[in-house]
Amino acid sequence: MRFCVLTLFPEMIRNAVSYSVLGRAAAAGIISVEAVDIREYSRDKHKHVDDYPFGGGAGMVMQPQPIYDAYEDARRGFAKPPKVVYLSPQGRVLNQEIARELAQEEGIILLCGHYEGVDQRVLDEIVTDEISIGDFVLTGGELPALVLIDAVARMVDGVLGNESSAGEESFSGMFLEYPQYTRPREYHGMPVPEILMSGHHANIAKWRLTQSIAATIQKRPDLIEPERMTEEERRIYEKIQQEGEEPRVKSVEP
Ligand SMILES: C[S@@+](CC[C@H](N)C(=O)[O-])C[C@H]1O[C@@H](n2cnc3c(N)ncnc32)[C@H](O)[C@@H]1O
Repeated sequence: MRFCVLTLFPEMIRNAVSYSVLGRAAAAGIISVEAVDIREYSRDKHKHVDDYPFGGGAGMVMQPQPIYDAYEDARRGFAKPPKVVYLSPQGRVLNQEIARELAQEEGIILLCGHYEGVDQRVLDEIVTDEISIGDFVLTGGELPALVLIDAVARMVDGVLGNESSAGEESFSGMFLEYPQYTRPREYHGMPVPEILMSGHHANIAKWRLTQSIAATIQKRPDLIEPERMTEEERRIYEKIQQEGEEPRVKSVEP
């Protein structure tokens, strides 16, 4: 999958995607992340890319011409017209479903705003999707673009070493992921739950499901939709509810 990022700060993007899982996926040719410097497309002799807002007000606004020309150039590299995502606090808030949806694309162009934002006319002209990473305002679209690239790329086949890890984690279904443990077996007087060392796969799976449901009740009850549960999930969910006490992940037995 191809990500093409239109930005005033291309090094922010190039540096961040050169590490860890994304860096390996790019080296293996499974994804490519290209950062296009909008400033290089400015026709202004001083390479200005922003100006004062018409109507007054604080700050500067990114001008349409350099963005449009950068987009036109980037678009030529795609076999079919790609989605153009403007990272914006006004957009749909990114979640796992949107990431999964975008991972079906062959490639996307991401537009990062800066300063007070971007001239509305170029947004109207080229943008197909507006996506926010949360209800807060950042100084620029580069960090949101990186968040989106990371969330989308790990849904692309072959990016995660272990294909099953994206399928079991939080937000892959209705429940958050169960707690994870690794060596040592005892840490600061706290042992790893005995069941995980039992080698009994069915019991471990049931324990993990119970922990997932308990963690979701405790941390994100808004995600729970009883009508979408399997019979087994509903039985465990009701048992936890009937215990009558505040669900605490540590205390829940399978
Ligand atoms: C300071 S913000 C502009 C905010 C704009 N004046 C407004 O109130 O909607 C500058 C740029 O940062 C990016 N940005 C800021 N917060 C964001 C968020 N929560 N999600 C995605 N992008 C964001 C956008 O690209 C935006 O154009």
